[in-house]
Amino acid sequence: MKPLRLAVFASGRGSNLEALFTAIDEGRLTAEIVLVMSNNPDAGALTLARERGVRACHLSENDFTTPEAFDTRLLEILGESGGELIALAGYLKKIRPPILRAFKHRMVNIHPALLPAFGGKGMYGKRVHEAVLEYGCKVSGVTVHLVDEEYDTGPPILQRCVPVEEGDTPESLAARVLEVEHRIYAEAVQLFAEDRIEVDGRRVRIKGA
Ligand code: GRF
Repeated sequence: MKPLRLAVFASGRGSNLEALFTAIDEGRLTAEIVLVMSNNPDAGALTLARERGVRACHLSENDFTTPEAFDTRLLEILGESGGELIALAGYLKKIRPPILRAFKHRMVNIHPALLPAFGGKGMYGKRVHEAVLEYGCKVSGVTVHLVDEEYDTGPPILQRCVPVEEGDTPESLAARVLEVEHRIYAEAVQLFAEDRIEVDGRRVRIKGA
């Protein structure tokens, strides 16, 4: 099987990016990470990419006169990288239509809760787990989904539950959820590498499942 050329967008520490690198090393993911892009020059994800000899690209909208100019440059960089799938891994910026069109059904995101609960604008990091605990939920989980024009609203590809335990704090719950994120993201991307994803409206079917 030909390795899937993967572009990863990340704004922060990059533990999901690291998990994808590890999955590739361990032969669980048939992919090559060809580009890591971040809006944040200090993102740990960029450091990780550089350490691996992968193109690490800091691109900020603030450096462009218009959003269109930013999107054009981003598409150019994606084109140069030959990326076939974009994986958002803690990328905090909204993706605009030109990029969505160019990567229709080929852009995924990971969210640390069971969507559509506890998603949307501003729902990231510790806030997600705080909200889950405040609500009194018995389960939380992880969702990997296709990306559309809103935050966290695209059709789910894989979802996995993580039980909430008595005495959980946002930090303890986040840590258990993150362990699952690190496994499930590589699994979801592997489905693309194996060409097993079929999209029918909001239904994502996994061929051969
Ligand atoms: C993860 O919890 C992911 O689900 C969310 O942002 C966080 C990124 O963490 N979208 P990391 O940078 O991959 O460590």
